[in-house]
Amino acid sequence: MRRSVAVVAFVAAVAGPMAAYATIQLAPIMGTWRANLHVMNATLSSTRPEETKQLRRAIQSYIDDATMVAGRLNGSGSQAQDFKHRFVALAAEGRQALGDVGHSSALKVDAARIKAACASCHAVYNN
Ligand code: HEC
Repeated sequence: MRRSVAVVAFVAAVAGPMAAYATIQLAPIMGTWRANLHVMNATLSSTRPEETKQLRRAIQSYIDDATMVAGRLNGSGSQAQDFKHRFVALAAEGRQALGDVGHSSALKVDAARIKAACASCHAVYNN
């Protein structure tokens, strides 16, 4: 019973914004993003060239994927626009982080912002 209530709440929360892009498969992208969060955490302060390369690649995936998803979202409702804006914002955080690679204290702040962006979208659309 509790589970079906949760499922109904989930569908109600995402049905509006999701309807506009039924062709976007978010789950696989999100799986990559989770893996890249681990890469980012593990390589944030590294100065080893190979790890710095992995870090850049992980950050770049947020920029590329979020830009791609945002580009496909064209719903006009306020919830659809909020959903899209969150991807646009994440891409911007990613660009900031990419610019800060090599500056570990700035990068830690950027990484915290990226994680906060994941959590805050999930709190609204994937809870
Ligand atoms: C703009 C909204 C939004 C942002 C930002 C976002 N997510 Fe998600 N995430 C979702 C939604 C919606 C789902 C549910 C997708 C589904 O079930 O089809 C989800 C699901 C997930 C899942 C579960 C995937 C699965 O296999 O079911 C993971 C893991 C995840 N997100 C990781 C992340 C990480 C890491 C970030 C940040 C780097 C992030 N997400 C940012 C909206 C977002």
